[in-house]
Amino acid sequence: MRAVCSLLLVSALSASVTAYPNGAPRAACDSMHPVHGHKPQPGTGGYGVFPEPDFTGTRTKWTITLNGTSAFHGFLLEARSTRGGKIVGRWSHLPPRTKALDCDGVNGNAVTHHNHKRKDMNNISFTWAASSCKDAPVYFKATFVKHYTKIYEGITSDVLNDVCLRPPKCQDCDVSKAGRRKVLGQARARCRDAMRANTLSLRKNGK
Ligand SMILES: *[C@@H]1O[C@H](CO)[C@@H](O)[C@H](O)[C@H]1NC(C)=O
Ligand SMILES: *[C@@H]1O[C@H](CO)[C@@H](O)[C@H](O)[C@H]1NC(C)=O
Repeated sequence: MRAVCSLLLVSALSASVTAYPNGAPRAACDSMHPVHGHKPQPGTGGYGVFPEPDFTGTRTKWTITLNGTSAFHGFLLEARSTRGGKIVGRWSHLPPRTKALDCDGVNGNAVTHHNHKRKDMNNISFTWAASSCKDAPVYFKATFVKHYTKIYEGITSDVLNDVCLRPPKCQDCDVSKAGRRKVLGQARARCRDAMRANTLSLRKNGK
């Protein structure tokens, strides 16, 4: 009887530990290491973390995309200061099957999966904003769970030297008086391209 009980207990425990359908626990915030008991795989597994500036609001936000050459079922994503690795900023616009996680008692400063049916995720994006411009330089760090036994840790983005970028002022783009939606749209696209180039050079400087 005792043997049966402990077997049941062990299998219940290992099920709850390995499945994690509710996402990473707070205990994983710092190490970003799942408590699965499986060693992380070497390399990135084809997974990546990509920040892009978003100038649609009054202050700069960032769209952070997690993607890969193969699907994943779980993840943990955080923004870290390059100075000491502190977890910084806040996440919003969470896609389906994801949820916010409170690390170090701070509301919503990390995101993880909430994926009971273990649906495949390929390309998901979040909005991130710094709490302060002084959070910079910042990089984004993720753990990807492909399967319980296949975990890729410490996947990092490029470094953002400035998290409060402003849209570039280019004459070309200033067609607000033209009042034509189409022209404005094209100009915005040019602005975005200019900005992207700007961000890339900033990232290079940050490395
Ligand atoms: C992930 O997104 C980045 C940035 O958009 C892109 O360069 C890269 O090719 C994507 N990777 C995959 C596997 O889709
Ligand atoms: C991935 O998501 C980003 C952001 O939503 C989007 O711009 C991009 O087109 C998507 N890529 C793929 C391959 O679906």
